[in-house]
Amino acid sequence: MSDIRSFSIADTPSLMVDIEVMEGNLDDMQRKADSFGVKLRPHVKTHRSVALAKMQIERGASGITVAKLTEADVMAEGGVDDIFVANEIVGNIKLERLAEIRRKVRRMAVAVDHMDHISILNGRFKDPDRPLEVLLDVNTGDPRTGVEPGPEALDLARSVWESPGLSLRGIYTHDGQSYDVEGWEGIIEVNRNSQQAVIDLAKTIKDHGISCEEVSVGSTPSLLLGEILPGVTEIRPGTYIFMDADQANVLGSYDRCALSVFATVISRPTRDRVVLDAGTKALTYYVQDKGICRTPGHGVLKRYPSIHLNRKSDEHSSFDIPSDMDVDFHIGERLEIIPNHACPTVNLYDSIYGVKGGEVVALWPVSCRGCSR
Ligand SMILES: Cc1ncc(COP(=O)(O)O)c(C=O)c1O
Repeated sequence: MSDIRSFSIADTPSLMVDIEVMEGNLDDMQRKADSFGVKLRPHVKTHRSVALAKMQIERGASGITVAKLTEADVMAEGGVDDIFVANEIVGNIKLERLAEIRRKVRRMAVAVDHMDHISILNGRFKDPDRPLEVLLDVNTGDPRTGVEPGPEALDLARSVWESPGLSLRGIYTHDGQSYDVEGWEGIIEVNRNSQQAVIDLAKTIKDHGISCEEVSVGSTPSLLLGEILPGVTEIRPGTYIFMDADQANVLGSYDRCALSVFATVISRPTRDRVVLDAGTKALTYYVQDKGICRTPGHGVLKRYPSIHLNRKSDEHSSFDIPSDMDVDFHIGERLEIIPNHACPTVNLYDSIYGVKGGEVVALWPVSCRGCSR
């Protein structure tokens, strides 16, 4: 923790976290994992901060999930010793980096969803005394990576099992389609189907004599609402730590949004229009255009959540004061904006100010900022 004491020292745009709200989010998800008897392995792509990853581990997380090897490297250097890279590792540069990071940590695993990944990894990692742990990436409805949960998945599991340098830790899925469906019922159904698909696959794999210890699931919308089914062993939410406008739409409230972009009113060109010094370089271009998480604008004013930013360019954003609202904004006034999506927003900043009781009491480096390789 730094000894920063005054909120006013923060220039704009900058990134703020309400520490009490964030701690509440951390505690709620850890409690959920504990109550269902599963491990929590948070995805740290949301905060990209060693300090916050350690806070998650101190509260009970079993390790972390990352998307990129460079994130893994920074986290390993920072002392995090159990890392799952939920991504396929391709190319010699990355293989060498993986081997190097693995030497620094107690436990590390990577994803595969194709025979080529298995033969590439098996060609590089040959030590049967310290096999590289692998999780099978399974597609349960989010059309990104992931093998379909059928016979091909069983073939991949068998192939990992038979590779002397590899060890099958288990299978995982990310039900990112939970962001796009309508209503709570839609999320709960996506979540249940996604979990059931990997539970069934794990059973098939085990029925064929192949060990499959981990069944790992999760996205924040589904973990906010859904039950965790017996057979699941691990959850991997990321965004839950901060929440954002996407998740507020799921929850029906902005109360759990811990993250905001602090911006200054720099111009009032008309009676209605209010212009801020935070554009796409401070808030990203992200707009969720469908489903329960749909975000109607480019960010939400924390103090007046019915007001959305309705224009954004590189360095500016603006909103119109609704005609039925008796409020005004003056040049120099500072406002907090809840971003539509926390994860890419955080990556735009070097550090995050932690705020408690209206005072800045912490400054956390975004240690993995720009770690996209
Ligand atoms: C593989 C994987 N696991 C977990 C997550 C966490 O999802 P969320 O940010 O909805 O919590 C993500 C997010 O992209 C992901 O890609």
